[in-house]
Amino acid sequence: MASKAILGLFTLALVLLLVRNSSAQLSTNYYSSSCPNLFSTVKPVLQSAISSEKRMGASILRLFFHDCFVNGCDGSVLLDDTATFTGEKNSNANKNSARGFDVIDNIKTAVEQACPGVVSCADILAIAARDSVVILGGPNWDVKLGRRDARTASLSAANNNIPQPTSDLSTLISMFSAQGLSANEMVALVGAHTIGQARCTSFRARIYNETDIDSSFAKTRQSNCPSTSGSGDNNLAPLDLQTPTTFDNNYYENLIYLKGLLHSDQQLYSNGSTDSLVKTYSMNPTQFCSDFVAAIIKMGDITPLTGSQGEIRKNCRKIN
Ligand code: HEM
Ligand SMILES: *[C@@H]1O[C@H](CO)[C@@H](O)[C@H](O)[C@H]1NC(C)=O
Ligand SMILES: *[C@@H]1O[C@H](CO)[C@@H](O)[C@H](O)[C@H]1NC(C)=O
Repeated sequence: MASKAILGLFTLALVLLLVRNSSAQLSTNYYSSSCPNLFSTVKPVLQSAISSEKRMGASILRLFFHDCFVNGCDGSVLLDDTATFTGEKNSNANKNSARGFDVIDNIKTAVEQACPGVVSCADILAIAARDSVVILGGPNWDVKLGRRDARTASLSAANNNIPQPTSDLSTLISMFSAQGLSANEMVALVGAHTIGQARCTSFRARIYNETDIDSSFAKTRQSNCPSTSGSGDNNLAPLDLQTPTTFDNNYYENLIYLKGLLHSDQQLYSNGSTDSLVKTYSMNPTQFCSDFVAAIIKMGDITPLTGSQGEIRKNCRKIN
């Protein structure tokens, strides 16, 4: 009787282990023999793009997030529209906003020259996101690899899964939870807003109508973002007003002073359950960096295509 119960528990544990490990087919040395110079091929292309325009590091990091949140990290965000499917580039979050596709193309060209037909676009994006963080002064980590590329994309999943700047804390928590990421991991990941820019249309309502905002900060932002929808929609402002091209923890300090640019940013510090973690990260850059690294590695594990699933695209914009 007892031994039967123990056997049952043992089987259950084994099954859970196998289920958990279904995404653990990714490994940091995946291309070590098939493309030994992969990392040294990717980095200089990215380095030169970021030297010409520092914001590009932010744009690439964001692409990785938008890839992983839409049916897993499978390079789907990189696909152009086709006759058989509408891609994700025209989704609400990406349209007139997502950028860096030409840089990914340049990296892919260099990688194809070094190791033809071997490295997926999904993995190139994961490596480029890491390198972007490092180049802009943030932490380093070993990127897990072995993802394959999707043969389709989903506009509707992009519209449903990528959070909006108008989202409240509870919505943000549930959207990350739907991807297997906790509220704490969400708070660490959104620290990516320590770099990059947002368009007026993404923060207009906040700077004109919200009360949990520093009034002089709101005025400053209003000066380049007219209140009328349709005018100045694409005018840019930094997500981190202090150091917009350096990956650091100032983003969290801004929130404490009610200087979050997006409504969704300020939601992380709005008398809610995530306030204390925001305070911790604002005071402890080392903890922020280590939690960010753990969370982005976990984000990179979201339902990859592996084995014989998908393909290794030749051109990141098109299926083979
Ligand atoms: C809480 C959920 C999130 C929301 C609502 C959100 C929303 C946004 C919005 C609205 C923008 C500006 C887009 C524009 O106006 O064109 C933006 C930019 C950005 N986001 Fe997020 N984001 C979230 C989480 C994340 C995460 C998890 C990452 C990466 C790990 C990330 C990385 C970035 C970066 C780097 C930029 C700047 C891009 C550039 O300058 O091109 N975001 N985000
Ligand atoms: C601010 O709120 C008012 C009242 O709801 C609305 O009419 C107006 O369009 C809002 N302004 C902005 C810039 O969102
Ligand atoms: C938090 O609550 C206090 C007291 O009710 C209020 O004064 C403050 O504005 C609130 N802060 C935010 C960010 O909502």
